Amino acid sequence: MRADARKRVAILISGSGSNMVTLAKSMTGDHPARPCLVLSNRPDAGGLDKAKALGIPTAVVDHQDFKGDREAFENALNTALDEARPDILCLAGFMRILTPVFTGHWAGRCLNIHPSLLPKYKGLHTHQRALDAGDAEAGCSVHEVTAELDGGPILGQARVPIQPGDTADTLAARVLVQEHLLYPAVLRRFTAGDRTPVTLP
Ligand code: GRF
Repeated sequence: MRADARKRVAILISGSGSNMVTLAKSMTGDHPARPCLVLSNRPDAGGLDKAKALGIPTAVVDHQDFKGDREAFENALNTALDEARPDILCLAGFMRILTPVFTGHWAGRCLNIHPSLLPKYKGLHTHQRALDAGDAEAGCSVHEVTAELDGGPILGQARVPIQPGDTADTLAARVLVQEHLLYPAVLRRFTAGDRTPVTLP
């Protein structure tokens, strides 16, 4: 594929960025996309150094500078994104709630990974909630981002059996392994224009 025909992918993070790393490392060779920016809302996000080590441009828009003014924060996000000219946004552990203005602007071009089998357990503390409910399995989902939190069309899911003695931490660690397989698989398919859901394993 010609380099100028490839899609440009911006990855938004808040933390360690392990999903960001697996996404970035997947975009090589004949992959129809390349990372163009890693953008964090936290200046201390561990993923920033990992992105730099991979040679990916980074930017920080610290939400704390905006004192609750979500519109101003999102305008600053869009300014940073516009410079990088992404075709697709991947939210990867990005821990800010986005307004309908932002999600509408990026509609059809923005993905998120969530550590539950959506539509179950939108929001936080997904693993503990699955354990408390006595579920037999947990997992993760990649979905399109819409105005509804964790509510857009599902583009892929991976299931993880819950084992006796699991804690939220042990379960999270096993789900994360699947996140690292699922998100690159979905991104590759999505970048090629195919929205058929990916099912793992
Ligand atoms: C992942 O479990 C993701 O699903 C959740 O936050 C975690 C981020 O991990 N939203 P990382 O920053 O990709 O390592």
